[in-house]
Amino acid sequence: MEVVIRRDAADVAAFVADIIERLISSSPAAVLGLATGSSPLGVYGELVRRHRSGALSFGRVSAFLLDEYIGLPPGHPATYRAFIEQHFSGLVDIPPDSVHVPNGAAADVDAACADYEAQIRAAGGVDLQLLGIGGDGHVGFNEPTSSLASRTRVKTLTSETRYDNARFFSAIDEVPHHVVTQGIGTILEARHLVLIAVGAAKAEPIARAVEGPLTSMCPASAIQLHPHATVVVDEAAATELTLIDYYRAAFAAKPSWQFP
Ligand code: GLP
Repeated sequence: MEVVIRRDAADVAAFVADIIERLISSSPAAVLGLATGSSPLGVYGELVRRHRSGALSFGRVSAFLLDEYIGLPPGHPATYRAFIEQHFSGLVDIPPDSVHVPNGAAADVDAACADYEAQIRAAGGVDLQLLGIGGDGHVGFNEPTSSLASRTRVKTLTSETRYDNARFFSAIDEVPHHVVTQGIGTILEARHLVLIAVGAAKAEPIARAVEGPLTSMCPASAIQLHPHATVVVDEAAATELTLIDYYRAAFAAKPSWQFP
């Protein structure tokens, strides 16, 4: 695992956008795994800016979202499909049919989950998976005690996560209790994980994810099992890391030929 500490959210966004731009330059038909929430917003803003400047095309890219709410009507502004269209896919040239979102409105949700896994496999797997982290250490919507081998399935949100996400709804009562999320096992199959965290509220969960222990009580700690994980944090989110000096030194001494 590599831990990269950048000064602020803008530097985090530029660093992660560089990783994605480099991937698409070498693999124009790359498969991106997209996260929602506020953490990746800066990255999406940066990618949109680069696209508009003519430097970056997503014309052959496809994308898979991590998760979706169950029970919201299609088109509801808090659905993750609406979120990703508003902040990224609707603002670049990625073909709408190439943006896949778990179907939280399916009559048979279990079948839709199995189908989602099949779609990821058919696309050749995810090349780069963006991740945020919840205050309780969740990734996607894999809440604490999620199986580290889990696949795409229905989960029940904790009250902490419902409270955290209430800002996207007009009232806490409107936040669904149930969601569909890629499992930890699904996420770990992506070829490169890029976990983003900004702000002091993420310092504690980031320290638990990066420095362990590996435990389903902190689902994000499963990134320790991945052979190619990059954790990109700002100074505020780095404050609880025990080995912060080591991460800084390793990054400063990184050979120029070694790119994330
Ligand atoms: C939601 C999403 C996660 C995200 C988390 C953190 O629960 N399902 O994918 O990582 O929120 O959100 P934020 O980045 O807004 O702090």
